[in-house]
Amino acid sequence: MKNILVTCALPYSNGPIHLGHILEHIQADIWVKYQRFFLGNNVYFICADDAHGTAIILKSIELNIDPLLMIKNNLSEHKKIFRKFNISHDIYFSTHSKENYYFSLLLLNKIKSKNLLVKKSIMQYYDVDKKFFLPDRYIKGICPICKSKDQYGDYCNICNNIYYSHNLINPISLLSNKKPILKKSKHLFLKINSFKKKIEKWISLCFLQNEVKNQLLYLLNKKLIDWNISRDLPYFGFKIPDSFIKKKYFYVWFDALLCYISTFKYFCKINKFSFFNKFWKINNNYYIYNFIGKDILYFHGLLWPIILDILNFKKPTSLIVHGHVLINGKKMSKSLNNFISGKDWLNILNSDSLRYYFSTKLSFKINDINLSLDDFIKTINSEIVNKFVNIPSRIYKFLENYFNNILSGEIYNINFYYYFVNKFNLVSDYYLKFNYKNVLYEVNNMIDLLNKFINDTQPWLLINSEKKIKKLHSFCTTIINIFKIISIYLYPIVPNLFSKIEKFLNLKLSIKNFHIPILNHKISKYEKLFLRVDKSIINYFNKL
Ligand code: MSP
Ligand code: ZN
Repeated sequence: MKNILVTCALPYSNGPIHLGHILEHIQADIWVKYQRFFLGNNVYFICADDAHGTAIILKSIELNIDPLLMIKNNLSEHKKIFRKFNISHDIYFSTHSKENYYFSLLLLNKIKSKNLLVKKSIMQYYDVDKKFFLPDRYIKGICPICKSKDQYGDYCNICNNIYYSHNLINPISLLSNKKPILKKSKHLFLKINSFKKKIEKWISLCFLQNEVKNQLLYLLNKKLIDWNISRDLPYFGFKIPDSFIKKKYFYVWFDALLCYISTFKYFCKINKFSFFNKFWKINNNYYIYNFIGKDILYFHGLLWPIILDILNFKKPTSLIVHGHVLINGKKMSKSLNNFISGKDWLNILNSDSLRYYFSTKLSFKINDINLSLDDFIKTINSEIVNKFVNIPSRIYKFLENYFNNILSGEIYNINFYYYFVNKFNLVSDYYLKFNYKNVLYEVNNMIDLLNKFINDTQPWLLINSEKKIKKLHSFCTTIINIFKIISIYLYPIVPNLFSKIEKFLNLKLSIKNFHIPILNHKISKYEKLFLRVDKSIINYFNKL
């Protein structure tokens, strides 16, 4: 049995959870459910809110609310939404915790003792109107390297170079849309250039998508510029002790990455688990999987392993990187205000439908996913409603009318039944490799085959003689048993539907006796398993 730690990136606490965030949690949760249910592995699935930074203080000013209260409210709302999407986090914590402060100080002290800390003055953009030092993501301008327009203060989307914001050409503050001024300020920096070889080694050992590996090697071959880990007020975060630097706060990304560690620490503490240290020890057989979006690869592919190296902790086994959910071709995001929140979704639709739809698009590739409601409606209605849950309804009446809902003692065509059972390894392997799209491709082929089997057998013709009735009984039993096998294959993707199916089958399903058919067993009354999606949802979302 393996022990695995799974993390999702920490959503910012300055707004609601939207479908972009939810994609990541669905991708991770399906894998977690698969690991637990199919393989019986021990998985600890953790996440937290990212409660620090300029974005948080700006939002609290806008809402005229104390930032502490705002992050508290958002935390409970975020937890609720994830729970409703059936995301099985073992803990959902916050960066604003004493455990996280402890690790921030620990890391800072280690950085200092290893001679990796530099204090230097830099020129930083300042918005005179708003009286704010501008974070890199609040400045746009022309890339100093390739001269592309409309690039952020830290990173060029076109040439993929990292730079300091004071090198950006023609900068504009996104807070006031005015040209910011340069102001001198002293900061703490972490020297990272000496880590090149170590990170290269980690990249060669880490389980990574090819595109990710290439991008990281590309970034690594540039000059690794010192990382500014402090920020000026106004800020919301942890204060850096005056003995290091006066009146400065830890940069939000500094303590956010550490929050993977502090959340796990807290989780172990409240559950009285003694394996915290074992988990992070180098060369043990614990595994760490970080699920992230492609926009935060620099932080997780370079800075995160560097932090772990400084702490002498184990580096991740794998980073699983996904593309973006797009709406009308643009990244769904808080800052563009073009998002559908999880709450809006749940107002009119169920969570399984989104889990299923995203799965049809998720493979090990880093494609963006354009959310098309037409395509969504078509997929759910044709695949789940018309084909999958229609299967039991096609034969249920026979079971009810002739057999008092009791399954027969034998299978009609055992080879046909085993054809489905034997797909287990194929399906399992696709899950293992994060290729949910192929899981659904295989499963839909199975569903088509089963529907064809019903058409070809024409069970309605089997009701007119005693001998045939027996045949009908074992036929219906076979259909129910194959439906059970397929339901198990689908469990990680549609857990709510799975629970309803368990109720209908009047049975708790497990992987242990997966291949053994259920015989001579009374099933429950059939009730609708999945609701058709109505076209009117398009209007609803358009009006939001
Ligand atoms: N707080 C940081 C992460 C710190 S991790 C130590 C952050 N927060 S975020 O709220 O902007 O994003 C959280 C995660 O959601 C990231 O992995 C990001 O890629 C993902 N997504 C945010 N919008 C997304 C889409 N539109 N589509 C897919 N994923 C998206 O970054
Ligand atoms: Zn550029």
